Amino acid sequence: MNKIQIAPSILSANFSKIGQEIVDLDRAGADVIHIDVMDGNFVPNITFGPKFVADIREYTNLTFDTHLMILNPEKYIEKFAQAGSDIITIHYEACQQKLIENLKLIKSFGKKCGAVINPNTPAESIFDAIELCDMALVMSVYPGFGGQKFISDVLKSVEKIADFAYKNNKKGLDIEIDGGINLETAVLAKNAGANILVAGNTVFKAPDKTKIITRLMQGQFPKY
Ligand code: DX5
Ligand code: ZN
Repeated sequence: MNKIQIAPSILSANFSKIGQEIVDLDRAGADVIHIDVMDGNFVPNITFGPKFVADIREYTNLTFDTHLMILNPEKYIEKFAQAGSDIITIHYEACQQKLIENLKLIKSFGKKCGAVINPNTPAESIFDAIELCDMALVMSVYPGFGGQKFISDVLKSVEKIADFAYKNNKKGLDIEIDGGINLETAVLAKNAGANILVAGNTVFKAPDKTKIITRLMQGQFPKY
C-alpha cells in the first residue's frame, strides 16, 4: 500500500496571510498542499488562479496538488503547470469524453495527473483513464465549499478503485479522498483504500496543526 499522506486544503486558510499559513503547514508535517481551484461555473464558488499558485510556490517545496474544479480545464492546464503544480487533477464531470486527452495534456508538461469523480459519479467512469493516472481522487462531498459532511457512500467507490488498481497492475496508484475528513472519517477512508487524505477545516480549526496531522495519519489499515 502507498504511504499515507495528509494534504491540507488551503481553501480553509486565511488568504490574507497565505504565505505564513503555508510555512506553518510545512512545519506541522503536511506532505502535500491541496489547492482548490474553482471557477464559479463548474462549482458555485470562486477561488484562485495560476498567479496565486506561482506566488505561494515561493514558500515551500512540498508537493502542490492542484484540484481543478473548472469547466474546460484544457484551457488552463499549461498555466497551472507553469505556476508550479506538481500534480494536477481534473474532474470526469467537466471533461467526459476528453478526460484521457486532458490527462495526457497534463503529462505533456511533465506533471503528475489525476482523475476526479463527484460522489454520485460511478467509480467505473474513470477505469479507462486509470492506466494513465498517478492518482484517482474521490470526492466525499459535492465540490464547492469546505466544512461539509462526509458522504460515506463514496467509500464503495474508493474500494472499487483500489480493487481495480490492484487487479490491473497499478499498485502505485495514489487514491485521494477529499471532503469532510476528520479523525473518524480518516480511518474509514484508509480502511477503504485511500492513502492521501485532504483535510481543510479539520486541520485549520485545530489548535495544534502538528498534532492533528500526526493523528490523521495514524491508524493505518493496509487493504492489501
Ligand atoms: C471542496 C474542496 C475540498 C475542501 C475540503 O470542494 O475540494 O478540498 O476544501 O474541505 P473540508 O476538509 O473542510 O471538507
Ligand atoms: Zn479539493
